[in-house]
Amino acid sequence: MKSATVLFSTDEIIDRQCRTFRIADGAFTQEIFVVFKGDKFYVYQNSCPHTGAPLDWMPDQFLNLDKTHIQCSTHHALFRIEDGFCVAGPCAGQSLKKVPVRVEGEHVIAEIEGNRNSSA
Ligand code: FES
Repeated sequence: MKSATVLFSTDEIIDRQCRTFRIADGAFTQEIFVVFKGDKFYVYQNSCPHTGAPLDWMPDQFLNLDKTHIQCSTHHALFRIEDGFCVAGPCAGQSLKKVPVRVEGEHVIAEIEGNRNSSA
């Protein structure tokens, strides 16, 4: 069963910006990231389907230069922001692992087991 974890307030992020969070569940910690595009938030696990490597090329930097896609820093695979589907690269046809997210008032909330440990 998933629990709700408040990540941040909606006014803490601007369009096409990303934020990384560590979520702790007992001894297990995982990293997730948020992309804000238009008026929607998209959350994924920070793990490339090709090798499992982290996607970001610098802290909180997940998008390609044009900010049209999520881009893996290791072999440059491109993923659609809206659904995490890989459209180019060695893992084409695979998808990022999506984390359900919702907005309640001013809070962006991820449906994920564990608690927000820190911003990565
Ligand atoms: S590790 Fe991401 S494309 Fe190879």
